Amino acid sequence: MCGIVGYVGQDAVQEVLLQGLEKLEYRGYDSAGIFVLDQEKEGHLFKEKGRIAELRKIVDHSIPAHSGIGHTRWATHGVPSVVNAHPHQSADGRFTLVHNGVIENFQELKEMYVDEAALVGNTDTEIVVHLIGKFAKEQGLSGKEAFRAALGKVKGSYAFALMDSEEPDTLYAAKNKSPLLIGLGDDFNVVASDAMATVQITNEYVEIHDGEMVILTKDNVSIETIAGKTVERDSYQASVDASDLEKGTYPYYMLKEIDEQPAVVRNIIQQYQNEAGELVIPESLVESMLLADRIHIVACGTSYHAGWLGKHFLEHFAHIPTEVHVASEFSYHPPLLKGNPFFIFISQSGETADSRQVLVKVKEWGYPTLTLTNVAGSTLSREADATLLLHAGPEIAVASTKAYTAQIAVLAILSHVLGLKQEITSDLDLVHELGMVANAMESIIDEKQHIGELAKIYLRDTRNAFYIGRGLDYYVSMEAALKLKEISYIQTEGFAAGELKHGTIALIEEGTPVMAIITQAESASHTRGNIEEVRSRGANTCVFAMEGLERGSDEIILPAVHPSLAALLAVVPTQLFAYFATLHRGYDVDKPRNLAKSVTVE
Ligand code: M6R
Repeated sequence: MCGIVGYVGQDAVQEVLLQGLEKLEYRGYDSAGIFVLDQEKEGHLFKEKGRIAELRKIVDHSIPAHSGIGHTRWATHGVPSVVNAHPHQSADGRFTLVHNGVIENFQELKEMYVDEAALVGNTDTEIVVHLIGKFAKEQGLSGKEAFRAALGKVKGSYAFALMDSEEPDTLYAAKNKSPLLIGLGDDFNVVASDAMATVQITNEYVEIHDGEMVILTKDNVSIETIAGKTVERDSYQASVDASDLEKGTYPYYMLKEIDEQPAVVRNIIQQYQNEAGELVIPESLVESMLLADRIHIVACGTSYHAGWLGKHFLEHFAHIPTEVHVASEFSYHPPLLKGNPFFIFISQSGETADSRQVLVKVKEWGYPTLTLTNVAGSTLSREADATLLLHAGPEIAVASTKAYTAQIAVLAILSHVLGLKQEITSDLDLVHELGMVANAMESIIDEKQHIGELAKIYLRDTRNAFYIGRGLDYYVSMEAALKLKEISYIQTEGFAAGELKHGTIALIEEGTPVMAIITQAESASHTRGNIEEVRSRGANTCVFAMEGLERGSDEIILPAVHPSLAALLAVVPTQLFAYFATLHRGYDVDKPRNLAKSVTVE
């Protein structure tokens, strides 16, 4: 959450920062700001509430400045407003700071060190920049040493970028738990929350690890631990393709990402195939997982929903008992661990703080870990013993779509390979079955006009809605409900169809939209019964049924695919429902209120 970009070099910095922030806007978008320093050491601060487009309107591009920092905010402390927007400045205006994360001891620091009268806003970040200013002034420290002294006092998560007005050619940065990396260029260097911000100008990056600070000039980058020890680290080439970050002719990223799903599934098949066309997973990972007597999947949101499909695959294809955990709840009731547990973390971004805190704990306990992520080099990837990449390409819309289907496809491949090793799944041709899913996804996507019309009929004017299903269809219902509620603001529940009558059916009234998913032969007739129950109480039902299980009056027919993989297909019309319902209701599909793409606070 929150996006940071900083640049020191030769180009006009305003445009570099604004373009970087535009690429990072998916991380938070309630306010934004930039600070630039000209060669006369004069600072220029621009802050605005709302989107980067608003900030762009007030930035003075004529200022000759070649260094600066910028920030797009997802509010934690203090309401979204101009005063709380970053960058923040020290009392004397010498230091300017942007921050992503949460300073846990900010209250204590405020009481001990900061003159309350000097504060203009309510953010935890402002306390830190005042602290830096105070240490520099009262102890006669250089900017670098004052920053180091402040870092020694701060507890919590942070990615910081700092400017000292006395050094217009230098940028300082530091990181603990929140993402930040260095980008290297000819005659310039940058820091950013992720590579997307700067991939237009460089694809060479250097990681920053927790507890490190960085000093950047246009010709040099040096990394030190906060304790002052020099760190040497090689750079790497980022695999992000700048063209993947563009919407092209699409009105929204979400629609582009929905449409990309057949290609993503095909790409995943290729990425996990060897030259003989066999699906492969690194041998060391397979060996480690086959030692496990229980697998624990840990994730949040959409990735958590994919985890339930992971449980199905691991239990059915590989016969390994599997539990699924919401990451933010894990520490309050951790599973009883005995024998040989194995942990899988699922995270599109690889940066989710709730999942990461569980990973840290599991590593302390000494259990083997695997991360499934879309972002190579992300924190969860670096810190787990092994990584399987989703190969979905950058996902920009806050509502996750192609990452979900990619997670399911990779979980299916992983489980299948584990099954093959044990001679359990030898009769399943997963490459063929996934190929069938990709084709079927295409035919559903071709129906988007029709699905858009249905979304209008069912969802344009409603306040609440339900998705229901049983078994694997229940897992899809949970995901479908999350998608609909997070972007259309329709209060939606994903419910186990059989559980409705134990209380929730009381909410059904005349016209309540109830979408039912039917892809599993074993539960189809029971779900049909539940549809009748809600219909007879006035519900406006919409049935998504798989070929072979359909009835003449069903609204959406899904081409038949392997039942274990049906979720990959059934979720697509629900994504389109969410997309079109949101359009019909007049909201921003890609940037729903209160949310951010990458959730880097606990
Ligand atoms: O990056 P992650 O997969 O770890 O993110 C987890 C959730 O924050 C994420 O899936 C969220 O629920 C999506 N916005 C849902 O569309």
